[in-house]
Amino acid sequence: MPCSKCQYQAVISLQHGNLCKNHFIGYFEDKVFKTINKYQLIDRNEKLCVAVSGGKDSLTVLYLTKKYLEKNSISVSNNLVALAVDEGINNYREHTLVDLKKFCTEHKVPLTIVSFQEELGKTLDQAYPIINKDTNKRPCNVCGVWRRYLLNKHAKKLGVDKVITGHNLDDEAQAIIMNIFKANTTLAARLGPISGVHEHDLFIQRVKPLYFCAEKEVRLYALLKNFQIKFSECPYSKEGYRHHIQEMLNDFEHKYKGTKQGIVNSFLATLPLLQNHEKQAPQAIQQCSKCQEASNKDICNACAMKETIQNA
Ligand code: FES
Ligand code: ZN
Ligand code: ZN
Repeated sequence: MPCSKCQYQAVISLQHGNLCKNHFIGYFEDKVFKTINKYQLIDRNEKLCVAVSGGKDSLTVLYLTKKYLEKNSISVSNNLVALAVDEGINNYREHTLVDLKKFCTEHKVPLTIVSFQEELGKTLDQAYPIINKDTNKRPCNVCGVWRRYLLNKHAKKLGVDKVITGHNLDDEAQAIIMNIFKANTTLAARLGPISGVHEHDLFIQRVKPLYFCAEKEVRLYALLKNFQIKFSECPYSKEGYRHHIQEMLNDFEHKYKGTKQGIVNSFLATLPLLQNHEKQAPQAIQQCSKCQEASNKDICNACAMKETIQNA
């Protein structure tokens, strides 16, 4: 099939036509830069930290953030750093970290790696069977709490104004549906291209430049740009609630093109209402009495999990 814009062979078929390699790369980058501008995800004077794992999403967002800064004559060396969390997932994370280190060296972005083991005393593989002992929960709940905790804590240490993440359209559509199925309006109000409802000194704002990019588009972009990555998935990713939602949405998307985009667009139309609703009854944020990080209870979730391990 030929490209809709020129005579070259198309590499992807999108709702509005087919695109060849060069036209797809142009379309993809344009979409990301437009998202950054429209939602004001990056400000000229801000110091930015990209949350990276070595996977296709995080390396794509790191590469394009750097490109955006250069395009807008913003100093990369003064404004951009990368931060990775090593959860301690055997036979997976150690490989993606090798790719990540190479990528950051090649693109001259300073990289900080923090680990569950060093910070919390156990790897994810060791911790979740203890923490989830009395439930049938898989590792994702522990992983999510500790990852967010360490990212926020170390982003503050690095003195950055914002954390940039590689969340794509598929991730967002899944999160929206998960929150609807679980009636979790408080968590839903925190979604969107810019996370959070309230600004708070203890939280660093998180932003998502790949918000409107489908997962298959990110994968193709990373492939065409020749990023040296393994495209592997977390070995636990097939086990959680999210995976069932992902399968359902992929099935719907296959049958009815545009489903994921429709979910995200209708969510964005109602997000201001949701956020207003949350602002009426703000959750009290306090400092955790153990670690002084943000918490809505006396002891934060990360410290509570750590305590469970120490008492086991
Ligand atoms: Fe849940 Fe990796 S721990 S996907
Ligand atoms: Zn073309
Ligand atoms: Zn704490």
